[in-house]
Amino acid sequence: MRIRLVIVLVFAALWTAGYLFPRVALNASGESAPQVKQKKRPARRSGQTATGARAAKDYSSFSHRSAKHRSLACDSCHTAPTANWLKASAFPDVADYPGHASCVGCHRTEFFKGARPNICSICHTKVSPRDGARFAFDKPGAPSQFNAVFPHDKHQDVIAAAGFDRGFRAAHAGQENAAQKYNNCAICHQTNDETPKPAGGFPDNFEPPAGTFKASPAGHASCFNCHWKNQEPTHNDCAGCHDLSQTDVLQLAAPSRKSLKFTHTREQHIAECTTCHINITRASSLRGLKPDVPITSCATCHKTSTDAAIATIETEFEKRNRDPAFVCAKCHTSEVGRLATPASHRRLFSE
Ligand code: HEC
Ligand code: HEC
Ligand code: HEC
Ligand code: HEC
Ligand code: HEC
Ligand code: HEC
Ligand code: HEC
Ligand code: HEC
Ligand code: HEC
Repeated sequence: MRIRLVIVLVFAALWTAGYLFPRVALNASGESAPQVKQKKRPARRSGQTATGARAAKDYSSFSHRSAKHRSLACDSCHTAPTANWLKASAFPDVADYPGHASCVGCHRTEFFKGARPNICSICHTKVSPRDGARFAFDKPGAPSQFNAVFPHDKHQDVIAAAGFDRGFRAAHAGQENAAQKYNNCAICHQTNDETPKPAGGFPDNFEPPAGTFKASPAGHASCFNCHWKNQEPTHNDCAGCHDLSQTDVLQLAAPSRKSLKFTHTREQHIAECTTCHINITRASSLRGLKPDVPITSCATCHKTSTDAAIATIETEFEKRNRDPAFVCAKCHTSEVGRLATPASHRRLFSE
């Protein structure tokens, strides 16, 4: 009983943390090497069972990328809603692993192999014929095999027209300026009140103040009210919103920023989101989005200043012109501020 509670609490903590963590695809040069499962396998004849290859396989982790699994419909394994949704979520949700029936048809041997079959540990915290306790779904902290699909462009008008805030966001109601709708972005992106703590810290040991970051959805709360039965992709069509990635997608503790020192909660920075995020409303995909905030949206206030104590784009620009080793530190931490001044910045002074 006690141990159960501890497990539940640990998961609750990880889970909440996970809620605010964005996901970023690892590239080949990422320091923590992605575990890409792309083993080259000899072609297998159809009719051969999974069991036939068991000696060479590791059954303790599940891959969506293997040929056989990829050939199956998502909802041949996943059900929506899962049986536990009432306990796990405020709305009909996908909150549990696929059940035994979705595997045993092909993996009977692995399920009944020895006293502690490896395969159980994909879903269960303890391998036991009597204990059904499972990890949270998805596994807290584990990399995802999918990229999120959210075409911002297609949703601008629909969400405005729906004019909804159906109460599931009531808990956050006070957080944003109620007088403004912010293009309804806040339905899905609230201010993150706590500064996340990435392992290894932020660059230059800079501590972003609370409220620096906006969070992104980590679950279905802001999708399923529309995408349940009528609007495609519907709840069973997992692949409509989860795009299988060839590299594992890590959950980062904090968003990866160019301008780490920018904070969303400074009063002069609170404005209609699209005054700065000028590209997102036209973006059909989340790929190659960055930067979606051009420096021109900062220039109205930060290009020059009569207050000599305040660093501006102009003062940093001039310092850099005099001393090529000067590191720009107003908006950037040093891994960006030490690089060559980009054309976008120089253009502000070329007219
Ligand atoms: C053969 C059964 C099976 C099929 C088919 C399947 N899944 Fe899964 N899926 C699983 C299992 C098992 C897990 C848990 C894996 C784990 O936690 O290690 C999972 C986990 C997930 C997760 C959460 C973990 C993550 O990587 O983000 C997502 C999202 C997901 N599946 C989406 C899909 C989509 C989309 C499809 C269809 C393209 C699909 N699944 C098809 C069995 C399946
Ligand atoms: C239609 C048959 C089929 C179903 C259903 C199926 N599998 Fe598999 N599975 C296979 C085959 C075939 C392989 C061998 C991998 C390959 O070579 O493609 C495999 C491989 C695996 C492996 C080894 C690692 C990997 O992915 O290559 C694991 C673990 C696994 N399956 C778990 C599961 C679980 C858990 C379920 C149920 C949620 C499941 N499978 C459902 C056919 C199936
Ligand atoms: C793909 C994920 C997955 C794998 C692999 C898996 N289980 Fe489960 N298991 C579940 C789910 C989901 C439930 C809850 C099923 C339900 O309530 O209908 C469950 C329930 C159970 C229960 C509770 C009793 C029951 O039937 O409700 C036990 C015990 C159990 N599993 C043991 C095992 C063992 C032992 C293995 C390995 C041989 C295993 N499971 C493999 C997902 C999995
Ligand atoms: C219905 C929900 C929804 C609405 C409304 C919405 N977004 Fe998003 N947004 C998302 C999702 C989902 C992602 C992808 C998060 C991920 O990759 O895990 C995202 C990603 C982003 C990102 C990239 C985040 C990053 O860390 O790279 C930005 C910036 C963004 N949205 C800004 C906006 C702005 C500005 C608006 C209003 C014009 C808006 N969004 C409206 C759901 C929404
Ligand atoms: C004054 C300009 C400005 C306004 C107004 C603004 N943002 Fe941002 N936003 C930024 C900048 C700058 C970044 C960081 C981009 C980078 O450095 O890569 C950012 C980043 C983000 C991110 C990615 C996560 C993060 O914090 O790094 C999201 C999501 C986001 N903004 C949503 C919003 C939403 C929703 C609103 C409206 C409520 C909004 N923004 C208003 C400038 C702005
Ligand atoms: C207010 C209702 C509403 C909400 C909330 C909503 N959507 Fe949509 N979504 C729509 C409508 C309507 C369309 C069709 C728009 C069109 O085709 O122009 C759509 C289209 C899509 C498409 C594109 C389908 C295609 O054919 O290209 C995807 C993917 C999608 N939504 C994902 C999401 C995700 C992910 C979320 C949650 C983060 C979400 N949506 C939240 C109403 C909504
Ligand atoms: C309408 C779009 C949409 C559909 C359909 C959809 N998802 Fe998601 N799902 C999302 C978004 C957006 C997120 C948050 C961003 C992310 O984690 O990639 C998410 C997150 C998740 C997570 C992370 C854990 C959590 O908190 O919920 C899992 C697991 C998951 N989805 C599994 C599934 C499975 C399995 C299916 C099919 C039964 C499915 N999803 C269908 C949009 C969708
Ligand atoms: C007022 C804030 C601000 C100041 C001051 C500033 N930048 Fe930037 N910088 C940005 C923004 C916003 C972006 C992203 C959008 C763009 O490039 O227009 C950016 C982008 C960059 C990039 C591109 C990063 C990448 O990965 O694409 C570099 C390099 C850079 N800045 C260097 C500098 C240097 C060098 C200075 C000093 C001469 C400087 N910045 C001063 C706000 C600032
Ligand atoms: C409406 C005016 C306005 C706009 C637009 C604006 N800022 Fe600011 N910002 C201010 C003021 C006022 C301050 C406080 C004085 C100072 O430090 O320059 C400030 C301060 C800052 C600081 C210092 C940290 C802090 O909050 O005290 C950073 C970094 C910053 N802004 C970055 C940006 C970036 C990047 C953009 C564009 C994406 C931007 N600002 C757009 C008015 C603005």
